[in-house]
Amino acid sequence: MTTGKAEGTRMSYDGMSDEEFWDARYGGSHQRVWSGDPNVALVAEGSDLEPGRALDLGCGEGGDAIWLARRGWRVTAVDISGVVLERAARSAEEAGVAGRIDWQRHDLGVSFPEGEFDLVSAHFLHSPGAGMPREKILRAAASAVAPGGVLLIVGHAGPPPWDPDGYPEVHLPTPQEVLEGLALPRDGWRVLRCEEYEREQAGPEGRPFTRTDNVLKVRRLDG
Ligand SMILES: C[S@@+](CC[C@H](N)C(=O)[O-])C[C@H]1O[C@@H](n2cnc3c(N)ncnc32)[C@H](O)[C@@H]1O
Repeated sequence: MTTGKAEGTRMSYDGMSDEEFWDARYGGSHQRVWSGDPNVALVAEGSDLEPGRALDLGCGEGGDAIWLARRGWRVTAVDISGVVLERAARSAEEAGVAGRIDWQRHDLGVSFPEGEFDLVSAHFLHSPGAGMPREKILRAAASAVAPGGVLLIVGHAGPPPWDPDGYPEVHLPTPQEVLEGLALPRDGWRVLRCEEYEREQAGPEGRPFTRTDNVLKVRRLDG
């Protein structure tokens, strides 16, 4: 695991840097913040991919990275929060896949992991405040896809119903906006999916509700 603070510090939200915000969010409880399960869109879109090298951007508690590693992928998993990377690494040990995952701490707006990957995946790479340069990060993500590889970007289509005005400064782009922001050369990529989808999620007090998310899946053509 890469240790130390993420390179550079951007003040982004309520007087906190993104790193401080996420360390506090994850460090505020010994309980998991997320479910520990892989994201449904990763399972839907990633199950038929041949395992190779994967990059998980904003990996959080590692549910996706661990799922990929169990399926035979070698995973580089990145997050800005050292607190969550330690938690994720413990879960990977428990799952018996620690040797297949390289946990790296980066503020992706400042530094980006080296290498080329057969799958680059970014699930819910959202952050409060207006500081995270998401479009720039996603362009770097596209550049890191190997020929023949896949870029999978999944995001929320809107805020949750119980907190509609929580983070008004965060823009949640449509999948078409995400695609346009990548500015991919038309003859070098194939769009496999670019759409909204609905999924069931547990809200506060465990009450189920339907959330709309969006998915963009593009393949870099060989040659
Ligand atoms: C909404 S969570 C999603 C976590 C995980 N992908 C999932 O689906 O469960 C967003 C994650 O992005 C990370 N993150 C936010 N800003 C980041 C940045 N600038 N660089 C790297 N990771 C960042 C956060 O620490 C957090 O773990």
